[in-house]
Amino acid sequence: GIAVDLATATASPPPWLTAAYPEILPVTIDGTTLYPGSRQSWCPSSPIFRDAARALVTQLAQRYHQHPALAMWHVSNEYACHNLPCYCDTCAAAFRVWLQRRYGSLDRLNHAWGTAFWSQRYTDFEQILPPRTTPTFHNPTQVLDFKRFGSDTLLQHFLGEKEILADLSPGVPVTTNFMSMTGFRHLDYHQWAPHQDIVSTDHYLVNTLGHPGPELSFQADVTRGLAGGAPWLLMEHSTSAVNWQPVNPAKALGQTILDSFTHVAHGADTIGFFQWRQSRAGAEKWHSALVPHAGADSARFREVARLGEIAAALGEVKGSRVEASVAILYDFQAQWAWSGPAMPSADVDYPEIAQLTHRLLRERGITCDVIHPSAELSAYAVVIVPTLYLVTDDDAASIRAAAERGAQVLVTYVSGLVDENDHVRLGGYPGAFTDLLGVRVEEFNPLLPGDSVALTRGTGARWSEFATATDAEVLISYAAGPVAGSPALTRRRVGSGTAWYAGTRFDDDTWREILADLVGAAGIRPAAQVPAGVEAVRRRSGERSWLFLLNHTDEPQQVPASGHDLISGQPYAGVVALEPGAVAVLREE
Ligand code: GLA
Repeated sequence: GIAVDLATATASPPPWLTAAYPEILPVTIDGTTLYPGSRQSWCPSSPIFRDAARALVTQLAQRYHQHPALAMWHVSNEYACHNLPCYCDTCAAAFRVWLQRRYGSLDRLNHAWGTAFWSQRYTDFEQILPPRTTPTFHNPTQVLDFKRFGSDTLLQHFLGEKEILADLSPGVPVTTNFMSMTGFRHLDYHQWAPHQDIVSTDHYLVNTLGHPGPELSFQADVTRGLAGGAPWLLMEHSTSAVNWQPVNPAKALGQTILDSFTHVAHGADTIGFFQWRQSRAGAEKWHSALVPHAGADSARFREVARLGEIAAALGEVKGSRVEASVAILYDFQAQWAWSGPAMPSADVDYPEIAQLTHRLLRERGITCDVIHPSAELSAYAVVIVPTLYLVTDDDAASIRAAAERGAQVLVTYVSGLVDENDHVRLGGYPGAFTDLLGVRVEEFNPLLPGDSVALTRGTGARWSEFATATDAEVLISYAAGPVAGSPALTRRRVGSGTAWYAGTRFDDDTWREILADLVGAAGIRPAAQVPAGVEAVRRRSGERSWLFLLNHTDEPQQVPASGHDLISGQPYAGVVALEPGAVAVLREE
């Protein structure tokens, strides 16, 4: 009964290949070569590596395409984990070709990059380099384009392998594992996702990220957004400790079950792990596994076996979809542009307010889809636009249309400021959204780390601005400091909906209340009335629905809900009792 998702083995070149062709090796920003002896030591633009990879994939597919165990292909592994960006000469040449294709002419490139500034005008494509180490700030659009180029280059790699597999083993699904983890920012997965037969991802809990549970749920929702709402595959997580942090604590027994079914609650239909048997040698011998060094006679392996039993009991959930009427818009390119050189504040981190918003709604039992700004918005009663620094005209128009159609649209600070070339939208911020919001900002006044400013309700941090409500109701304004009197929270009727603007990072309690007003105005009900630390998500398939209840606390909890629990086999009428760390999956009548 065991099938195989066969990897194409092209993630890491063997030493004989890089010894024969050292030009395959990637190069860092300051010219350091990344030598073999680790993994993924290949330049994304190298035609030699690409041809060698294709030759290997051809051999593998010819040999195994009819093997009865072959269920899926796993192309390469975690693209860009270690070898992007690469600044070598091969990449420089490929970047020029990519730029020629994007802009068609040097004039258009010079305009897009704003090269009149600091005497950067190019008179020949040959003069253009990757953004290697420079005396000071790089050209921001050059940096942004280099990221786009890197993501596109690796996508071509993936497509090159996929083409061979589709040819030689038609019908066998092909995927590559994304890294939907906070902090990984090298690929624009929104462009990759449509090319996956099934979207798959890896997720590891990182000790230093606060709120590991909410972070997991957020990233699972990012992945479901990439999958267009369809079920997705968790290719990797860990049964217990990883070995790539300075200190690597074990997971509490039971946590891997809770983590796994949190992913399932958020739309995963498959749960995978790295690694099967814990290695005896090599760089990952201290990374946990399904079968630990201690062997099968261990609490960890018994937990894994229990996980398998629970998974078997949940078969009927497969194929169902997660129910959400709130959308949080999320764009890797906006993140790239905002993290570019010389910006107003390094203390505003792109996903921070998106994640906080997601966490506070999750605490209320409200599930969010995390989707690209170009996604269809008509199904959502609430659309949240957090720090969407870069936005295209089309996407801004679609956000506006959502409000006109009746949605509650909430835009935060640092949104709509620039177009896709990272050119500022003139005439007052937030550029793309000034008319929609009825707010005009003349100047920013970011707050220093740790500072806060008094508002007429609560406090603001990180960001403030000299703003005027030109055509909006002011709900909260600054009560002190240089921008005193400026609006901090506004609301405006638009068509049959409402456009809200939040101009600062409100304290958590105030933001929680604002979000409650927002979802209240949209008439959204939680999946269940959950106590603190319990998560509720509903999956649905036609008339059938399943309510996932996940107790992330160390205490027993009770949730008002009814249905037949697929895990305990027990029926509940009215109240579900959850042991610490327990999961219930209720088939609802
Ligand atoms: C990544 C890789 C695996 C392994 C794990 C360790 O996700 O894909 O090969 O290195 O990390 O956590």
